[in-house]
Amino acid sequence: MDWTHQDFVIHEFSELESTNKTALELAQLGKISDREIILAERQSAGRGRQNRSWISPAGNLYFSLLLLPKISVEKIPQLSFVGITALRLAVKNSVSKWPNDLLIEEKKVAGILLESKISGKNCEFVALGIGVNLISNPSETIFPASNLKNFGIEISPQEMLKNFLNEFEKLYQNWLDFGFAGIRQIWLQRSYRLNEEIKIKLDGEEIAGVFSGMDEEGNLILNREGKILKISVGDVS
Ligand code: BTN
Repeated sequence: MDWTHQDFVIHEFSELESTNKTALELAQLGKISDREIILAERQSAGRGRQNRSWISPAGNLYFSLLLLPKISVEKIPQLSFVGITALRLAVKNSVSKWPNDLLIEEKKVAGILLESKISGKNCEFVALGIGVNLISNPSETIFPASNLKNFGIEISPQEMLKNFLNEFEKLYQNWLDFGFAGIRQIWLQRSYRLNEEIKIKLDGEEIAGVFSGMDEEGNLILNREGKILKISVGDVS
């Protein structure tokens, strides 16, 4: 079934392997374009970051937003910050955890997986895939998880998607017009363990330090007894 919200067209399915997979395939075939969304009630092979899977039973929100921004490849990762910041504004009492998880009371309630097609130095299209735990969450996760219902938020997948799109529309336009600075600033306003001691796992190695901010490229700034490290991938705890 297809429906619309603002300028967005939503293609809704009952089950897909992965909304990101379908969005990328349809974009490749030219069958969907900018601001079209693939929404599924459940996924049989949902994808998480770093090749993990995303368990996707019915009742939660699973969607991929296709975007065709005219940008160079190095700007692509900024889009996941635009996405998580919009989600944070749409979910009461949530904070963002670097790079792009959403937490409530130190429990992960949503994640983003950005996948893109590039040609040369340019971005052809991006699928911004978002999963939000509305009524259930997996129990065996590397970072503790929960769902919105546990925090008294009862909302359908479709309503949650609309709330997200209302915030995304404004932030995305701001990012297209003025760049990353504004997004970075809003992201930093409510972020997990800013200016506190954190641990980051990178390829099995764990390093500790003070989370001192995020740079203009979205890298995490870690202060290890005065020595500044910039980190582009990793799991924060
Ligand atoms: C993470 O590991 O935190 C990212 C999870 C992203 C899951 C979403 S659900 C909708 C979209 N389709 C997928 O296969 N993955 C993303």
